[in-house]
Amino acid sequence: MSDQVTMTPLNYSADRPKAINPVKIMDLSIRDGHQSLFATRGRTEDMIPVAELMDEVGFWAIETWGGATFDTMHRFLNEDPWQRLRTLKRYIKKTPFSMLLRAQNLVGYRNYADDLAYAFVERAAENGMDIFRTFDALNDYRNFETVVKQIKKSGKHFQGCICYTLTEPRLGGEVYNLEYYTDRAKALEEMGADSICLKDMAGLMAPYDAYPLIKALKQAVGVPIHLHSHFTSGMSPMTHLKAIEAGVDIIDTCMTPYAYRTSHAAVEPLVMALLGTNRDTGFDIKKLAEINEILEKQVMPKYKHLLDDSKVSIIDINVLLHQTPGGMLSNLVNQLREMDALDKIDEVYKELPRVRKDLGQIPLVTPTSQIVGVQTVNNVLHDTPGERYKMITGQVKDLCYGLYGKTAVPINPELQAKALKGYPRGEQPITCRPAEVLEPELEKAKAEIGDLAVDMDDLILYAQFPVTGKKFLEWKYGKTEPPASVKPITMEDVKKRDELVKKALAGKLVEPKQVEKPPKSQAVRKFNVFIDDEYFAVDVDPTGQPQIVSAPQPVAAAANPGPKPVVAPVAAPPAPEPMAADGTVLLAPMPGMIVKYERKAGDSVKKGDTVVILEAMKMENALTAPCDGTVQAIKFASGDTVAKGAVLAVIS
Ligand code: CO
Repeated sequence: MSDQVTMTPLNYSADRPKAINPVKIMDLSIRDGHQSLFATRGRTEDMIPVAELMDEVGFWAIETWGGATFDTMHRFLNEDPWQRLRTLKRYIKKTPFSMLLRAQNLVGYRNYADDLAYAFVERAAENGMDIFRTFDALNDYRNFETVVKQIKKSGKHFQGCICYTLTEPRLGGEVYNLEYYTDRAKALEEMGADSICLKDMAGLMAPYDAYPLIKALKQAVGVPIHLHSHFTSGMSPMTHLKAIEAGVDIIDTCMTPYAYRTSHAAVEPLVMALLGTNRDTGFDIKKLAEINEILEKQVMPKYKHLLDDSKVSIIDINVLLHQTPGGMLSNLVNQLREMDALDKIDEVYKELPRVRKDLGQIPLVTPTSQIVGVQTVNNVLHDTPGERYKMITGQVKDLCYGLYGKTAVPINPELQAKALKGYPRGEQPITCRPAEVLEPELEKAKAEIGDLAVDMDDLILYAQFPVTGKKFLEWKYGKTEPPASVKPITMEDVKKRDELVKKALAGKLVEPKQVEKPPKSQAVRKFNVFIDDEYFAVDVDPTGQPQIVSAPQPVAAAANPGPKPVVAPVAAPPAPEPMAADGTVLLAPMPGMIVKYERKAGDSVKKGDTVVILEAMKMENALTAPCDGTVQAIKFASGDTVAKGAVLAVIS
């Protein structure tokens, strides 16, 4: 394959001729995208409105899970992470799912025992995961061994990552040079990797390093090469182009509302840039625009307050200056600020490469970036001219013991000896695969949590997150009431909040003008609006056409394969019908989707029998017969979307 990107006469239509070697794209919007920009707070209900359209684009895969999602969902959103997989699978039927797996750290923050690792991967595969993008912070692939065995056993795609890091301003130097990366790629191919991902989590990869690097990898291994390069430093769109010229197979991007800043470059400009070339993605730019419109109007308003807008610049040039992840630098600044030592930031920048070198030039990615960062601050604040490493953190001790794996170069032996003095596991570092020193932990977890973990999925969640996991299981099974903070905000909330802020800014938050009040209709809904310390109870009554203001109901992505979901204004679901003349009607108490009818026309029912299961806000609700009688008419079918007040059945 020639590396020249060639042009054919332009044809903008969606059915343009297929390119010889189209660049494949993985979309990250609903995992890395909202993890990078919106603190991983994206709710499943806000993914559903675009899910079916996303499935139509032709992505190589959609990243739906992993990284911080598992933690954030059960902790802050009162959502079962396993359920997200099953729910999204109902809407995304063609495009494979990908997840970010922290190898032996699974989706948590330490090395877990093998029994838990096997169980986690097996259950993820069963729940719908297709591609396991696996990484280890030290690029020590012994930490892959267990999960890879299970990925293969489950018949799924094993994507091995090489964490991209530098010790110099550009690719090269003693450690992280071309040989290092080709060696790691060969090791992954030998382990059975179905594809290899270059994971540039800090956005350090320069375009003219990407070119020779991708070329070398393409020569060294036969499996597809996938590039994951964060935008943080601003280089990634240029890096993408050079990688494409070098023959990269797959690129990671986000939909525009989830793109740029510390996230990834957007897909739309790339699609246009490649249009008509031999690497044309073949994507329909209009379909992408349609998805953007839904996200902009129906979803993003609920999240925009989470966007860090403290800076005007969307690029962090400190990353270019220090070859260090942006998140790590802001953590350092916060730590120093808390200790009232912000004036020491320049010393921290100088100390950081020294600490990293002492610790074996490890890549800087979760969790190693925190390990190096915290130790650096400790050194700057506590070391004396006579003594270095006066305060060594527990994690540095673990790292020195070998609990994270093998470092790129040996750890400074003096530091290692000092760190392991009196270390409870032993003063001699281990050289084996770290998980070999860990006791099985599933049974112990089961004994602790007891019947609160109803199935293996519950148990795995608890085993990785004992505290928040237990709390979540108590919410899930109705043992305790979840706090208001984990409840979703709605578009009504957003609208009211925006209006009040606008009024307040204009100095108009005064006595309301006396106008004749219209009567409240049945559709009136109550909202609590909080602005800082002020509180307003607000009644909202839609006027005119039935309005779909909140996104929870999967309106735009109903399971029926009929006409494509339309861009806002959203097509209203079937409007409430008038009461049937003869019989008692069963009404939808909320908008939602019919999962299934438990009774059919002609069946006799007793008051309280379940007639239909309605899914709303991801919860399945059993709706029961309001009286004894015979089911006269069934108004909908499985997968139908219904409005609040719709007649679901007539009983007489
Ligand atoms: Co990432």
